[in-house]
Amino acid sequence: MAIEPIVLFDNGHHKCLMFDSLVTGEGVQSNQFLVVDGKHEALIDPGGDLTYTPLSVAASRYMNLRDMDYVFASHQDPDIIGAIDRWIVHTKAKIVTSKLWARFLPHLVSSYVTTKLSGSVYDRIVGVPDAGANVKFGDSYLQCLPAHFMHSVGNLQFYDPVSKILFSGDLGASMGGEDEHLPVQDFDRHIPSMIGFHRRYIASQKVCRLWANMIRDLEVDMIVPQHGKRFEGETMVNRFLDWVGDMECGIDLMTQENYRRPVDYV
Ligand SMILES: [Fe+2]
Ligand SMILES: [Fe+2]
Repeated sequence: MAIEPIVLFDNGHHKCLMFDSLVTGEGVQSNQFLVVDGKHEALIDPGGDLTYTPLSVAASRYMNLRDMDYVFASHQDPDIIGAIDRWIVHTKAKIVTSKLWARFLPHLVSSYVTTKLSGSVYDRIVGVPDAGANVKFGDSYLQCLPAHFMHSVGNLQFYDPVSKILFSGDLGASMGGEDEHLPVQDFDRHIPSMIGFHRRYIASQKVCRLWANMIRDLEVDMIVPQHGKRFEGETMVNRFLDWVGDMECGIDLMTQENYRRPVDYV
């Protein structure tokens, strides 16, 4: 069965596609992204073993996988870049991620895969500094924005200046909402499907505020997280920026109660 992506943007030359239904079984629902600019292609947060085969089949309808330019990884988690070994061996793509993870990702690549490569795994990884960087892509570029501690210590988000889409990784993630393939319609009703995740997985309100200030200076038409629904249009983007910058989370909520020796067994 062909899995149709959601077309987030398409001007004929430049496309942003979202695959939102490739995860089957026990994995948490996640979105994978393909960005095309002319004859150049990049995947954003393609995932691990669960999505590798369906994503490579689905994406092959839009490109020759081998010639893909980049795999962008917002952070180091399994649902982001767990299948790095496959992308490295089956494509020529460079893996773009925080420099904090560049030395750790080779742990996901077996020595068997390493023997099939002409160079080292590390040579295939572009380590982005903490300040972020612009990565040339086709006639344009993709901007790696700093989003550290949201939730990973070395965390990036990816902004596409052509489509004006911000691929926000786990920030803005929602779980268990209905019609996950549709954009958020009612922000207040959407909050319960985001709040638990953000309180526990995002480090602090301070970083959310600093991040929101940076994003307000950008022209953003859409914020698209890696799980759940996206935020489309100025009103929804601004509602999200206001909400996330005003939310206590992570270490803001920690007390001595959270740091006691456990008595229960699992
Ligand atoms: Fe994550
Ligand atoms: Fe995630």
